[in-house]
Amino acid sequence: METFETIEGLKKAVVEIRRRGESLALVPTMGHLHEGHLQLVRTARQWADRVIVSLYVNPFQFGPAEDFSSYPRTPEADAEALLRENVDGLFLPATEELYPRPPEAMTFVEVPALSDTLCGAFRPGHFRGVATVVLKLFHLVEPDVAVFGEKDFQQLAVIRRLVEDLHLPIKIVGVPTVREADGLARSSRNSYLSAIERPLAGALFGALNEAASALDRGLTAYDEIAAEGRHVLESKGFEVDYFAIRCLDDLGIPGPLEPRLVILVAARLGRTRLIDNLIVQRG
Ligand code: PAF
Repeated sequence: METFETIEGLKKAVVEIRRRGESLALVPTMGHLHEGHLQLVRTARQWADRVIVSLYVNPFQFGPAEDFSSYPRTPEADAEALLRENVDGLFLPATEELYPRPPEAMTFVEVPALSDTLCGAFRPGHFRGVATVVLKLFHLVEPDVAVFGEKDFQQLAVIRRLVEDLHLPIKIVGVPTVREADGLARSSRNSYLSAIERPLAGALFGALNEAASALDRGLTAYDEIAAEGRHVLESKGFEVDYFAIRCLDDLGIPGPLEPRLVILVAARLGRTRLIDNLIVQRG
């Protein structure tokens, strides 16, 4: 596995891959890799001859009071895990490399409709930061395929829309969420949970499943189902940002006959903000 810290080094390797006529997949990550990320890498391998993973904690997708400085950073362990997965290239840029201008002079990209709702309403600017760094990575790597986790469902929707709107010739592949035995979605932020909080955290998936079975039974009172999910989580000590039932394709508000739904939740347990979702397809 080759490691690149500069854009120049990365681009040389990409040119070489293309010269050999090989296809290329990109897996963008913020590191502190877990089984969920490794699943993205394995999926990428099924789609392309070569796999490049980027590892960069992007400051421009964190709000001023968020966890940018405490976000877990374990680059050595990450590199070892990626080596074991036979990854071809690891891109580890410094901020000056990716963002040569000061924040007030930077170019950003926005995906408005999908970015202001759900997590976007609680994390202003978050999806602008995600869309911008992902677009930069797409331009630098020019992959045929890019792989993202379905756990970050809204992020995946934003990236799909970005690719569609800007006519980027990149296939976006979503990978199902990897879960712990109690259903907790694997996330780098799970490491913030205390020993007391961790056993409670599985309740998030439990609440999603309760809502999913109400939808499977044909209930259409979405607000009531969502309010019940919120109530269950609050009774267990979560502070709920949102518990929402939306259209699977565009995250819009569903009508009663909508067959393709997604239930999304974001809630805090102590200082840990957890997100999760469950897809429900009816009829
Ligand atoms: O999902 C993540 O880890 C990040 O949001 C991403 C896509 C790597 C952009 O920084």
